[in-house]
Amino acid sequence: MRSYNIGWFPGDGIGPEVTMQGRKVLDAAGARFGFKINWNHIDLGGERYLKTGETVPDSVLEEMRGLDSIYLGAIGHPDVKPGILEQGILLKIRFALDQYINLRPVKLYPGVECPLKDKGPEQIDYVVVRENTEGLYAGSGGCLRKGTVHEIAVQESVNTYMGVERCLRYAFELAAARPRKKLTLCGKTNVLTFAFGLWDRVFHELAKDYPQVELDYAHVDATCMWMVKNPEWFDVIVTDNMFGDIITDLGAITQGGLGIAAGGNINPEGVSMFEPIGGSAPKYTGQGKANPLAAILAGQMMLTELKEDAAAQAVEQAVIGILPTMAGQGAGRMGMTTDEVGDRVAEAIA
Ligand code: IPM
Ligand code: MN
Repeated sequence: MRSYNIGWFPGDGIGPEVTMQGRKVLDAAGARFGFKINWNHIDLGGERYLKTGETVPDSVLEEMRGLDSIYLGAIGHPDVKPGILEQGILLKIRFALDQYINLRPVKLYPGVECPLKDKGPEQIDYVVVRENTEGLYAGSGGCLRKGTVHEIAVQESVNTYMGVERCLRYAFELAAARPRKKLTLCGKTNVLTFAFGLWDRVFHELAKDYPQVELDYAHVDATCMWMVKNPEWFDVIVTDNMFGDIITDLGAITQGGLGIAAGGNINPEGVSMFEPIGGSAPKYTGQGKANPLAAILAGQMMLTELKEDAAAQAVEQAVIGILPTMAGQGAGRMGMTTDEVGDRVAEAIA
């Protein structure tokens, strides 16, 4: 029997309860499709930091390098100053494991309420490929004359040929494998001429290898507008780290919100990490109100990465099957508890 060593990294807040539902569902998929998942607990997050002062010890990073994949809940604790856990844990792992792609599908499922007028599942089905190791997230910066009225704060964006090329290539491959084969580069070539000059040049360089892919370009501001007005124009959007962060929250709300939006931090040659893209939601912790579908769909993305395609499809079908029976996708508005959602999806697979 195939078996996988997966890091179960529940993290903070609602992370444990939503990933437990994902575990249930993935175990059910394994039982049906002939594989076994060994869940290795990764104990990182706000509680550990408050007790020990540790964010990610090197020993834990080493352990992660030996896994087949990582399944993350959420990071963020009300008693820890904002930034410490996000940078010290989440960004540290993305960088250390070189998870250079942040893959975020924007897909509206039937039965999910959409805030866009006159848009349905037919119109909202695309994927954002966000560069995940460079840009403003990796640049150096500093302040001069801090705390005075003459202060100057500088924050640089790093874009390397290698980093841009591998991200664009991933996006071209993905676009080429999808029925519509359209790739939109989202940038700001009219202002950020150095950074997006490089992106644009490499985009056209790689396009020669993918004559079947339709090329498209949109500035980031216009991209936001089209994502609301004409989401059906998009198939695959590729962009840098910061723009990708911003537009994927917009994308998430058009697909029903953070209760359902999932993503993957992917190193195609290494260890990837899948997560619901919402936060730890401390005020809903332990109440059975959090929607586990985002975590379940993150698990589905992980199955795809593990090449368990039949199982991944079964999970997606089970989620599609349960959606019409839910009252809504927001926390506390599902008409059932976190656990019940997990049980029903798992039962549908078994
Ligand atoms: C995300 C989050 C993170 C990011 C934060 C928590 C550092 O917003 O995964 O989109 O900015 O990448
Ligand atoms: Mn974000």
